[in-house]
Amino acid sequence: MTTPDPADRVLARASLAQGDPTGWFDRLYTAAARGEADVPWTRGAPTAELVAWAADHPGAGRRALVVGSALGDDPELLASAGWRVTGFDVAPAAVEAARARFPQSTVDYVVADLLHPPAQWRHAFDLVVEIINIQAMPRDYRPAALRSLAGFLAPGGTAIVSEVAEEKQDMAAWQSPPWPFSRAEVESVAQDGVRLVSLETVRDGLRYWATFTR
Ligand SMILES: C[S@@+](CC[C@H](N)C(=O)[O-])C[C@H]1O[C@@H](n2cnc3c(N)ncnc32)[C@H](O)[C@@H]1O
Repeated sequence: MTTPDPADRVLARASLAQGDPTGWFDRLYTAAARGEADVPWTRGAPTAELVAWAADHPGAGRRALVVGSALGDDPELLASAGWRVTGFDVAPAAVEAARARFPQSTVDYVVADLLHPPAQWRHAFDLVVEIINIQAMPRDYRPAALRSLAGFLAPGGTAIVSEVAEEKQDMAAWQSPPWPFSRAEVESVAQDGVRLVSLETVRDGLRYWATFTR
């Protein structure tokens, strides 16, 4: 007897087969809200490396943008560290769930697509946080996504980029999202006036953790 694929795999496969890189996220969050599926990246806590970073970088009212805000853990962490946070997600059900989870929040949760971001976000944020979202879209979308990401960063700001690292994976066997990043792909956030500040691996080499500035 074979074990059935989890809902995220089934929904991703159907969405991607129709040439839709992101539609499955909303279907997954909607199914999860009904108790019919698990969202595998949901931990109920902010990203550990971001907790450590935020402790040393109080926001003091500066503007932060969290890409792929999901259920709100990372945006809420930054808001509690004094950042004025916008969190966006392509999945309306995720935005709705984050707002419901944190009803007193100061975070502005919005539905938006990294591939077609609002024009007014260009060069508008002192902190841009991208943690394991771009890797969840097929590779063809990566250049456009990285271009958008670089564009959000204001002069003197910081962008944090963390994705699964290709170095430790068997890429020949890799078939479904997420698609890990090469070191050169992470470095390519440095475009359009943005430059790399640091690039390291965390989690025993499994993830990149990079910072950039403009
Ligand atoms: C793998 S989850 C990671 C969520 C969160 N960043 C974390 O660290 O747990 C990817 C998230 O990005 C969102 N997402 C995927 N593609 C997106 C896009 N093009 N624009 C905005 N959000 C997107 C998904 O809906 C999902 O919430």
